Amino acid sequence: MDSIVLVTGAARGLGLEMCRQLLAEGRMVVAAPRKAGEPELERLSEESGGRLHIVPMDVGDEDSIRSAAGRIAGLVDRIDILINNAGVYPKIGTVSSGIDSAEMIRAFRINTLGPMHVVTALLPLLRKGKDRKLAQITSKMGSIDDNTSGGSYAYRVSKAALNMAVKNLAHEFGPEGFIALTIHPGWVQTRMGTDAAPLDLGPGVADILKTIEEATESDNGTFIGPGQERLPW
Ligand SMILES: NC(=O)c1ccc[n+]([C@@H]2O[C@H](COP(=O)([O-])OP(=O)(O)OC[C@H]3O[C@@H](n4cnc5c(N)ncnc54)[C@H](OP(=O)(O)O)[C@@H]3O)[C@@H](O)[C@H]2O)c1
Repeated sequence: MDSIVLVTGAARGLGLEMCRQLLAEGRMVVAAPRKAGEPELERLSEESGGRLHIVPMDVGDEDSIRSAAGRIAGLVDRIDILINNAGVYPKIGTVSSGIDSAEMIRAFRINTLGPMHVVTALLPLLRKGKDRKLAQITSKMGSIDDNTSGGSYAYRVSKAALNMAVKNLAHEFGPEGFIALTIHPGWVQTRMGTDAAPLDLGPGVADILKTIEEATESDNGTFIGPGQERLPW
């Protein structure tokens, strides 16, 4: 359990709980919240015995990603597992009511471009890693086959594009032994998921971490849901 894991969007929700559970498993964690001074993360760091480094990283901003990558390279000599978890769910209207272009682009910048830029910036450290796992947290709402209700244009489009990007990552980095995954966590109780979600945070995150832990070469470039179920694109 000596893997070094980097988690983006670590300030709350799934990301914060991932950090908690990874530390409990004995891992070294680099937590990348959007901004500094997140109290729960700071507390976790104080209790971690030096196993949790906090490096702010706004995944919607390339300069922020690059500068965070530089700081991370000064703290750890490799990253074994990357979890691109940060994401937004902009509430925008329908085509008939008019799409808000700025919100659409914001979703694309954070949900789709962010994970790709993070991989680029961290590549030297990822190439020194042992596990070579690139996990992206997507959503079933990004599945074209599964879209039975429409709506949520910005979120659906940005996550569908992320899914395509992950398939490309699988082709680009699979030959080097990387395993690129796109993981739907299920509907989990977080600020985004709301209290109406059927899945509790703890078990929801445990399931994501199990999916990542158990992933093998044959899972490279696959779309996986709760209980390690393969999902339709
Ligand atoms: N919960 C669910 O039911 C569910 C279902 C399907 C998929 N997901 C996916 O799971 C991931 C985590 O979501 P969640 O449920 O934990 O939602 P959440 O509670 O809203 O947390 C989202 C996290 O992403 C961070 N974030 C947003 N923009 C960022 C940026 N530009 N740079 C860095 N971090 C940023 C947020 O930080 P700030 O608070 O500082 O903005 C926050 O820590 C997302 O990718 C989401 O799409 C969740």
